[in-house]
Amino acid sequence: MKRLFFVFPILVLFSCQQKTADTKTDATENKSDAHSFSEPHKAIVKHLDLDIKVDFTSQLISGKASWLIENLAKSEEIVFDTRQLQIQKITLGDDETETTFSLAENVKILGQALKVKINDSTKKVNIYYTTSKDAAAVQWLNPQQTAGKKHPFLFTQSQAILARTWIPCQDSPGIRFTYNAKVTVPAELLALMSAENPQAKNAAGVYEFKQPNPIPSYLMALAVGDIEFKPIDSRTGVYAEPVTIQKASYEFADMGKMVTAAENIYGPYKWGRYDVLVLPPSFPFGGMENPMLTFATPTVIAGDRSLVSLIAHELAHSWSGNLVTNATWNDFWLNEGFTVYFERRIIEAVYGKDEAKMQEVLGFQDLNATLEDFGKESPDTRLKADFNDRDPDEGVSDIAYEKGFSFLRTIENEVGREKLDAFLKNYFNSHAFQSVTTEEFLADLDKNLIKGDKQLRDKLKIDEWIYQPGLPSNSPAVSSVNFTTVDSLISTWKKTGKTSDLNISKRSTNVLLYLIRHLPEDISISQMTAIDKEFGFTSSGNSEIQAAWYTLAIRKKYTPAYPSIEKFLTDVGRRKFLSPLYKEMIKTSEGKQWAKNIYQKARPNYHSVSYNSIDELLK
Ligand code: BES
Ligand code: ZN
Repeated sequence: MKRLFFVFPILVLFSCQQKTADTKTDATENKSDAHSFSEPHKAIVKHLDLDIKVDFTSQLISGKASWLIENLAKSEEIVFDTRQLQIQKITLGDDETETTFSLAENVKILGQALKVKINDSTKKVNIYYTTSKDAAAVQWLNPQQTAGKKHPFLFTQSQAILARTWIPCQDSPGIRFTYNAKVTVPAELLALMSAENPQAKNAAGVYEFKQPNPIPSYLMALAVGDIEFKPIDSRTGVYAEPVTIQKASYEFADMGKMVTAAENIYGPYKWGRYDVLVLPPSFPFGGMENPMLTFATPTVIAGDRSLVSLIAHELAHSWSGNLVTNATWNDFWLNEGFTVYFERRIIEAVYGKDEAKMQEVLGFQDLNATLEDFGKESPDTRLKADFNDRDPDEGVSDIAYEKGFSFLRTIENEVGREKLDAFLKNYFNSHAFQSVTTEEFLADLDKNLIKGDKQLRDKLKIDEWIYQPGLPSNSPAVSSVNFTTVDSLISTWKKTGKTSDLNISKRSTNVLLYLIRHLPEDISISQMTAIDKEFGFTSSGNSEIQAAWYTLAIRKKYTPAYPSIEKFLTDVGRRKFLSPLYKEMIKTSEGKQWAKNIYQKARPNYHSVSYNSIDELLK
């Protein structure tokens, strides 16, 4: 990636001359994204017309990506990112004059630069391509792997740099474009995208989409399956397989309220509709904030709406992330830290302070565990990260999420909520549909919040938060009264040994998670048996509780849970659950063998995001 470093100083000069306070096209400045081959300062994409066919028999997507471009530097070529793509031909303009192109050598993780010959006046580049069977973004599910078991299913996951495995694109979060798409699928299936969506199938199996707001490539998304729609209110609704749709719409009934609550905090929702698509259980994440259509794991459907903060989180990304985007993957905390903060504000508004506090405490515990795990001096515990020469996927940790959250909470504690809200509202508005580096955010903070108050600046310890590892000394103390009650019940139980002393009156998911996390390290099998009898953890239908309890069960060799653990690992493909469980298993040699046996059966059910991580663990 030396090439990028070489161009950087020139670009900085270029951008300083060009830039005025509020008019800028940030992608033209090229914020030196080490994870993209594109050279947007020379020639940049502005709009995509996608025309593709989804073929379940060959498990290939093929068609044409027509890019409207701006040849800013009168360059002789435009560079796209590709990985695992077959390029058939490339033409220019509406008259489709064939042009020449080259695919550079394949670089691990990044793929191949596609260099297309253009001329001064080129406005449109038409790329004819086909994906490969193992395209990393795409998961093709056979009917057995769906909830309904009758029809196949396909979904994509583009973040962080997998869009290039199903669309040739300038795959950098600093580059935005609008898109229209035409997608042809088998007639019995519905297609959905991160765009204005259909609400019912049509007989031809041809669907048209429009995303009128400019988005970065990592928000390109497609799902195809036997999918139904059910409205929640006039601007929100749920898509899911028919057998899941009732449960899903019950679980997510508060979506409309969440959108309104979010708007009351940081201003109008700018994307039109907000819908959620519930995917089959192999979806590798909890949720993905694809614009207008969040993709979500079915593992948040607990039956009691107790895990819906995930919806608040993905919705919050409609401001922090989709509206104002991290310029590079090293600025990822700007997306996720802000989103966790906003998520908890939405939860507080809809479900009250108590609920938000409990989630905050659990999050803070996760952060401390991660700091412990990485080592407090590890450079990977800095908010401003350095994932150059690594897969940006490695940046998905509690550092970006929870340390990012704690930083914003620290500012809130210092300046007060009112001032922070006014600042953030202005930040989202003034950078709407743009990408921002950590440094630009800090400049904004200086200018609009700190305003030369040196004392405040020192108090905030900004440099420590952003550029130093570990947790600064001004990190906020967090506690929840509900959890303090659990603490005292546990200590009584430890003395008496009577399970009836764990008489938790309101057995909410948060409280039960807290309980499982605080069971003593030396807990005996008979104690676990008694607790399991009382609380039914092994047979819980709540995925968060299952994951926490099963981790303990593996550590303690609590064999009654083993069949349920195997089933969980085979059915569910959400990496956040898989990694800790497999990690716990491989701590002993017999556990490792057990893990390998399960993995052999389970791996075909996982998306590449998950199996790449687990391959790494079990190798
Ligand atoms: N955008 C992320 C998921 C992601 C991050 C995918 C980086 C690929 C690369 C999404 O918004 C997210 O954070 N999901 C969390 C939800 C949780 C924090 C509520 C998840 O999947 O667990
Ligand atoms: Zn997120």
